[in-house]
Amino acid sequence: MLEQADSTVQAPQADLTSQTSAEDFEPRIVALFCNWCTYMAADLAGTSRMRYAPNVRVVRVMCSGRIDPQFVMHAFARGADGVLIGGCHPGDCHYQEGNYKALRRFRLLRRVIESLGIERERLRLEWISASEADRLRKVADEMAADIRALGPLQLSIPAEEFRNAEGAGAEIPSPEIAGETAAKEVAVP
Ligand code: FES
Repeated sequence: MLEQADSTVQAPQADLTSQTSAEDFEPRIVALFCNWCTYMAADLAGTSRMRYAPNVRVVRVMCSGRIDPQFVMHAFARGADGVLIGGCHPGDCHYQEGNYKALRRFRLLRRVIESLGIERERLRLEWISASEADRLRKVADEMAADIRALGPLQLSIPAEEFRNAEGAGAEIPSPEIAGETAAKEVAVP
């Protein structure tokens, strides 16, 4: 399930174009995992032969704080039914505050996607450390079940408009500019 282990950070490029009928719908979930924690947990789950939802396509990034909002918008625009972001627990980020930045972006992104008619449950953020393979399994299974229940993502606006909105993702102001503080508010809603 670890599809890509290249540390070069790029927007997800997984082939998400093929889909089956609604009855046998299986969600396509793009997982953006921090190299130091959640990616390691996924690796541990693999080496421990743990089974979890095969719907998750993992893209490794060096830190959750490196996840540009455009990565998320790009994934939805290219056919992902859900996006899962995984990062180090608060206080454990190898780049000190990258996960706080990820949390603030996540909150803003959820508002953006909701304004575009995408259910908030389709975007999820979890703190999962390298040793928490079992938690990774649980989260992946839960998210696959939640999105299976929601059904395939159907953009409420034409693809052309969504592509423009993809650009809007890049224009999400930094949390500082948006007036959100970097307070140690770490509970993920
Ligand atoms: S290094 Fe893992 S979230 Fe920053």
